[in-house]
Amino acid sequence: MAKNKQKKFDDVARFENVFEYTDFQEENREKPKGKWNSEIFKNKNPIVLELACGKAEYTVNLARKYPDKNFIGIDKKGWRIWSGAKVAIDESLTNTHFIRMFIDHLDEYFAPNEVDEIWIIFPDPFLRGSRESNRLTAPKFLNIYKKILKPGAAIRLKTDSPELFSYTLEVIESEQCKIIDRVDDVYKERPDDDELSIKTFYEQMHLQKGKRISYIAFQL
Ligand SMILES: C[S@@+](CC[C@H](N)C(=O)[O-])C[C@H]1O[C@@H](n2cnc3c(N)ncnc32)[C@H](O)[C@@H]1O
Repeated sequence: MAKNKQKKFDDVARFENVFEYTDFQEENREKPKGKWNSEIFKNKNPIVLELACGKAEYTVNLARKYPDKNFIGIDKKGWRIWSGAKVAIDESLTNTHFIRMFIDHLDEYFAPNEVDEIWIIFPDPFLRGSRESNRLTAPKFLNIYKKILKPGAAIRLKTDSPELFSYTLEVIESEQCKIIDRVDDVYKERPDDDELSIKTFYEQMHLQKGKRISYIAFQL
């Protein structure tokens, strides 16, 4: 493993704002399910998740903008989480936390009604073969989100993939979800939107290739 990557792994293991739960031997480690506000953030503020956060640009930027909300960035790759966690430490963003884990087990980490909002930013579109069920807006995942979200909570997806966007619209219809916002071309229709114009690592690559960025927000 490259030295730089190893250093990031070592840092993440000692960062106080990161929980790691990817090793089998950690399976029995107590998870803060139902206690994120009382024991971790020590306040009663709304909890917002960024799933597949990568370098966590959304977690960090939203945390700066909304100090009265708590943000948790989640990804399975520790060296990516490192970037967001380091910025949060350097800027003393106490309203952020990070979990290195598999999103598939989200309901083991959060209690019913514990989460107020979910952002899903440029998730892998899983285009080839029959991998639709791996998409983070597949019914399997919506059922997991339903177990932890408050009624009426928003799920917000930003993507460069027309396939994932139209697939999500189909799932929204078949699962009888309610669309609360839809922007087919973010930079054409809402270039000055504070939240939608936050640019992630992957988004910058997509924009360089001239891809169109779409956004949909819905309730379960
Ligand atoms: C295409 S990248 C996008 C990263 C970031 N949101 C961005 O826009 O730069 C997708 C991310 O999803 C993470 N990921 C994919 N499936 C996951 C899963 N089941 N659990 C946790 N993370 C996952 C990957 O590790 C990767 O960092």
